[in-house]
Amino acid sequence: VMEELQGLNRGRLGVAVATTANYFATHLLAAFSRRNPGVSFSLDVTNREGLLRLLMENERDVVIMGQPPEGQELVADAFMANPLVVIANPDHPLTREHDIPPERLQNELFVVRERGSGTRVAMERFFARQGVQLQSEMEMSSNEALKQAVQAGLGLGLVSQHTLAMELSLGCLAILDVVGFPIQRQWYVVHRAGKRLSPVAAEFRRFVLEEAEDHWQLPQQPTDSSA
Ligand code: PGA
Repeated sequence: VMEELQGLNRGRLGVAVATTANYFATHLLAAFSRRNPGVSFSLDVTNREGLLRLLMENERDVVIMGQPPEGQELVADAFMANPLVVIANPDHPLTREHDIPPERLQNELFVVRERGSGTRVAMERFFARQGVQLQSEMEMSSNEALKQAVQAGLGLGLVSQHTLAMELSLGCLAILDVVGFPIQRQWYVVHRAGKRLSPVAAEFRRFVLEEAEDHWQLPQQPTDSSA
């Protein structure tokens, strides 16, 4: 009985997560690890395309990613919202505006994620549906590089709000109030259909689905009382 209460204390867990999910995945692993001492981990961090490849190779126990494509023989369950937002340097004039129409963004330069990024796919889908053509000549292959570029004033960017804990609390990036935003995505925990999950993997999957939101809060922009 003690052993049950203390959780699993043996086993190895191979997790792969989206670059964007890494901001909270380590918090989930830390909480899981406190409850299941003795379980060792490996964590791969890559973009959507990389994760789909890992799923096909069936090499990892559990994958955390945005919505997987249909018809791929995957078991995928959503566990948390993933709002995507437009970010700017806090001195950018658009930070003082409200209900910005998406067409206004056509006049701005955008720093975008690389092809193969799920954030990039969602961004392109959103603006195509709005009939808006962005000017995006700067591509960055990491959320960190993209956020640094936006802070430096290279342009606007579009990222998951989950990536912004530090920048929002320090006030070095601002979320713009654009009509239609945030783009609402979901996080999924995914494995190949027919895969036999180890006891540790099955417990981690349950933990993520049932308890992720107890261990992580979506970073928020401080409310501006002077507005
Ligand atoms: P990504 O994030 O942009 O790092 O691929 C995953 C996703 O949102 O699908």
